[in-house]
This record gives sequence, C-alpha cells and structure tokens, in this order.
Amino acid sequence: MTAPAPLTRHFLRDDDLSPAEQAEILDLAVTLKRDRWATRPLEGPQTVAVIFDKSSTRTRVSFAVGIADLGGQPLIISTANSQLGGKETPSDTARVLERMVAAIAWRTYGQAGLEEMAKGTTVPVINALSDDFHPCQLLADLLTIREHKGHLAGLTVAFLGDGADNMVHSYLLAGATAGMHVRVGCPADYLPNAQVVADATEIARATGGSIAILTDQVEAVTGADVVVTDTWVSMGKEEEKVARVAALSPYKVDAELMALAQPDAIFLHCLPADRGYEVTADVIDGPQSVIWDESENRLHAQKALLVWLLERAQGREA
Ligand code: CP
Ligand code: NVA
Repeated sequence: MTAPAPLTRHFLRDDDLSPAEQAEILDLAVTLKRDRWATRPLEGPQTVAVIFDKSSTRTRVSFAVGIADLGGQPLIISTANSQLGGKETPSDTARVLERMVAAIAWRTYGQAGLEEMAKGTTVPVINALSDDFHPCQLLADLLTIREHKGHLAGLTVAFLGDGADNMVHSYLLAGATAGMHVRVGCPADYLPNAQVVADATEIARATGGSIAILTDQVEAVTGADVVVTDTWVSMGKEEEKVARVAALSPYKVDAELMALAQPDAIFLHCLPADRGYEVTADVIDGPQSVIWDESENRLHAQKALLVWLLERAQGREA
C-alpha cells in the first residue's frame, strides 16, 4: 500500500494558500509570463490528468497548453467517458491515477468529491472549478489586478450579481488572503455561504483586508478599484434562469453603475459572459475591461501553481 503523502499539497479552495504562498505563486506567474519556458519540471514527459464533469474552454486550453509548456503532456478526460461518477469513486480513481500521473485537476460539481479525491492521494489535486469555488480563476484574476494596479493589498473589489456563485466564494477567500477589501452586492435571496463569509472575515482580520456583504448595489460599487461580475446562470443552474434574471437584474453592471467606481477602476469577468444580462456590452467591451488579459493569465497562473505544487509533492526534488 502506498503511504499517504505527508508533504503533498492540494489546491481545493483559495484559502489552501497562506498570504505568503499566494504571493509566491503570483510572483512565479509573472516570471513565467515573461519567460514561458523558464522551467520544465514535467520534462520526461510526465502526464497531468485534467478531468471535466462540466464544459470548459479556458480551463481546458490553459491547462493543456501550460502542462505542455512545462515539458509534460496533458491527459484530458471527460467524466462522461470514464468510470468516475458512474462505477468508480473519486478516491479509487485517484489511487489509480496517482501511479501514472504527476497531478490531477478536476472540474466537478460538489466540493466533497474533490476533498475525497485529495484525501490520502500522493499527487496534488487541483480544483478546476466546483459549485463552491473557482480558485484557479482567482489566481489569474489577482495576477491581472496586480498587473493593472501594481499591488493588491488595500484595493477595494466589488462583485455584483449572484452572491452564492463559486466566483464570489473564491473572491472572498482569495481577496481576503491578498489583504483586499471585498464587497459583494447581491439580493438577499442570493447571499454567499455563511461559513465562507466567516472564514474570509477571519483571514481579512489578519491581512488588513475586509469583507462586506451588501444588498445595495450602489453602496457595493461606489469607489471600488475593481468591479467584477459573473454569469447569473452557472453550470447546473440552467433551470433557474427565469427566476435568476428577474432577481439579479438590478445588479447588472452597466455604464451607470461602473461610473460610481473609481475613474481608473478595471472590470473583470471570468467568462463566458452573457452580454446584456450580468454586464452590458459597453462595459465588458469598453476601455475599463481587462477580460482578455484575465483569460490569458489563466495560463501563467496555473503553470505557476503546478510548479509550486509539484515541488511539494511526495518523492519529487524541491
Ligand atoms: N473561466 C472559465 O473557467 O472558463 P471555462 O469554463 O471556459 O473553462
Ligand atoms: N460561475 C460560473 C463560472 C464559469 C467559469 C459557472 O460555474 O458556471
């Protein structure tokens, strides 16, 4: 039996990284963006499995290209064509894969499956989006904000829309870790998970950041340095579309709301976007939008994350 790896680190939610570790990975991402082939820890090539229960463009491409940049080969698995989720548990799947691959990234529904996969597994497990968190996206978002603003700590970020969204939960934890002031503007029926808010508040207390959950979209966005939104209809919630559009419409990021933020505020959206719903075309395609930098930064941020996790995986050279 393979003993559980004592040193292996996983990235299942944003607060799996301390403030210093988050900063270290972002610094490495800057280096890898400047010099794409600076390090090739997967030379061999070694394989990284990237598993999808849900659709993806950016995550699929950025992991595949990033793994190849690092000297490795990506193995993209569609859950629908595998035994995972049907005949086999996440834990058994991980025990099979860990004998053959250097790391596993998984886009799935419940967070519990990721936790089960990571438990006792010798290779790093990465959350490539779950119903609850999207931590890889947040590394890219923080890298983008840092590029445009020069720093993270002390900045105010306002997220408008579905407060129970995976992106909100990740902004709360990752933003607090970075020492940012995170405001969420959302309807009372779409509040973030209370435990995540409590966890983020505790992190913010230590980093000098803060957390505010507001139902007033004007209060949330006024004076913000960064304005963010996401789809109102996340994957798996398609049947709720009519109710969601009705409830979330006041939180649409349009030019009028954007004008309440700082004059040099930037706009982010993880994409894919529904223009005319959560954001108007003049904002997402306008001069304050940095969405294309943000999507490119998925590549650089995830490569940095992989390098960092591989250095800490059992049996590998530091
Ligand atoms: N932002 C993001 O995760 O995009 P995909 O769903 O295309 O991977
Ligand atoms: N909240 C969205 C993010 C897509 C990248 C979803 O889960 O569908």
